[in-house]
Amino acid sequence: MTTRRRFIRACALAGAAVSSGHPDTAAREAGGTAGGERHEGPILLSTWDFGQAANATAWPALAAGGAALDAVEAGARQAEADPDNRTVGLGGLPDRDGHVTLDACIMDHQGRAGSVCFLEGILHPVSVARRVMEATPHVMLAGQGARRFALAEGFASADLLTDEARREWEEWRRTAEYRPRANRERHDTLSILARDRDGRLAGACTTSGMSYKMHGRIGDSPIIGAALYVDGAVGAACATGHGEFVMRTLGSFLVVELMRQGRSAQTACEEAVDRIARGLGADPAEVQVGYLAMSATGEVGGHAVQPGFQRALRTARIDTVDDVPSRFTTR
Ligand code: GLY
Repeated sequence: MTTRRRFIRACALAGAAVSSGHPDTAAREAGGTAGGERHEGPILLSTWDFGQAANATAWPALAAGGAALDAVEAGARQAEADPDNRTVGLGGLPDRDGHVTLDACIMDHQGRAGSVCFLEGILHPVSVARRVMEATPHVMLAGQGARRFALAEGFASADLLTDEARREWEEWRRTAEYRPRANRERHDTLSILARDRDGRLAGACTTSGMSYKMHGRIGDSPIIGAALYVDGAVGAACATGHGEFVMRTLGSFLVVELMRQGRSAQTACEEAVDRIARGLGADPAEVQVGYLAMSATGEVGGHAVQPGFQRALRTARIDTVDDVPSRFTTR
């Protein structure tokens, strides 16, 4: 089973293209905030360790000059088709009534966006979201309407509840209190940002959402501005974690707007995390949100509420998974 707990050894290829002299890099070298880096050429930046497999799928075409939009869709599709990933697509854990319900969105450098939420029985919600963006006058389709649209567009119906996920759900029903409880161990959206050779940005998110959630619950992942925002002239940002906290602060939009005002990708993510941290109640350990950001100039950053959030970065010279710095140092 692929989980964020699984350790993937960071593999920095020879000659890492991290520019020296950048303020955030200097801060990191001085023992300050880590994660502020600038990279040349095509870039893929994904959430969690499993983002490395998404990056690997998307990389060859992106490196060959392909579009950022195609790259983020390809990366998201890889996670959606992985039956061992319990938080995205096929094999995702169901809601408390046993339904696998999917949220996904996609956005490009021109501000075009598409999204689906509460979608059942379709393997690739990110591609349905792209069809919403490209073939309808709308941004978001939900539930049965999204499913009808997908089927009409030629997407096949699929049973996404695998035997393994069903067994985990049945075990949860036997042992857990029957109430929706935010569980930060079960919030692993695949969010992916890309910059292509021509400097175009794009992003995508895809998830089966909070496991054992109330039937009908929709998270941040399909909400443009919450889990994803792209402004081709400024940068892109994405989120993973407790969707309710991301939605309340419209975090990805906030990160991009802070970058527009001159913040680095790193310090913009830190401010978005601070907005959440400042509003937390007595037990911040119950909450995890992580942001990643990429500027139009190739600077990347990331920050999380709690330790444990990882990012996967792919450039021409780097293929790595590393820990993202966090607001709190213990959990
Ligand atoms: N971030 C995924 C969710 O809360 O559904």
